[in-house]
Amino acid sequence: MDIIQAIKERRSINFFETGQTIADDKLKELLETANLSPSSFNLQPWKVVVVKSPERKKILRKCAFDQPKAEEASVVLIMVADPKAMEENIDRMLESWVQLGYMKPEMKETYRGMANNLYGTPESERRKFFAVKNTALFAMNLMLAAKGLGLETHPMDGFDEDCVKKEFNIPADKVIPMLVAVGHLKKGITLLPRAFRRDIKEFVKFESY
Ligand SMILES: Cc1cc2nc3c(=O)[nH]c(=O)nc-3n(C[C@H](O)[C@H](O)[C@H](O)COP(=O)(O)O)c2cc1C
Repeated sequence: MDIIQAIKERRSINFFETGQTIADDKLKELLETANLSPSSFNLQPWKVVVVKSPERKKILRKCAFDQPKAEEASVVLIMVADPKAMEENIDRMLESWVQLGYMKPEMKETYRGMANNLYGTPESERRKFFAVKNTALFAMNLMLAAKGLGLETHPMDGFDEDCVKKEFNIPADKVIPMLVAVGHLKKGITLLPRAFRRDIKEFVKFESY
């Protein structure tokens, strides 16, 4: 499927075929494709908790204000934004840039300083924005990749973050921008037409806000 078609055909699916699984190699391909997403300084501040057992999905549904799709989808992915990804990944990221010829070894410390200036201290609000925006890009790419792989998705931010963190052992310093349900459209369901979108004239400004 071509990318424009995937964007045009992706919908948030409310009714998933229950009991239909996603093969491990397909799930791996989905995650590996999304992992090609761009990120600030290539720091890749996302982590994903894959929830696929019926028991664990039932718990997730409870945390997601009883939204049925959190249990009925084949797999639900908890998108975790990690503000500490800078500390976790910057050394190997800079080293890879040196190895691949993007920059000379002596530039490493300059780049480290730039990243620290831009994204603040691990506890800062700026660092949370950094982690969340990049994880959201990962999630979007994953939803489009899913479409290309013949799967349907539904993003959700209707959930109790403390509940998800507690039940799925996610440390307090992480942020959960969304859950993404992944699966197949329930047989016999016809989707309603796509919901309204604003005319681009309403929000596109040229040269100045
Ligand atoms: C970050 C995010 C969170 C969302 N959370 C929920 C949710 O918790 N429950 C829900 O039913 N839909 C949720 N939606 C789906 C939106 O309602 C949906 O994307 C929108 O109505 C447009 O429909 P479409 O995705 O089919 O084009 C969410 C969408 C996004 C992007």
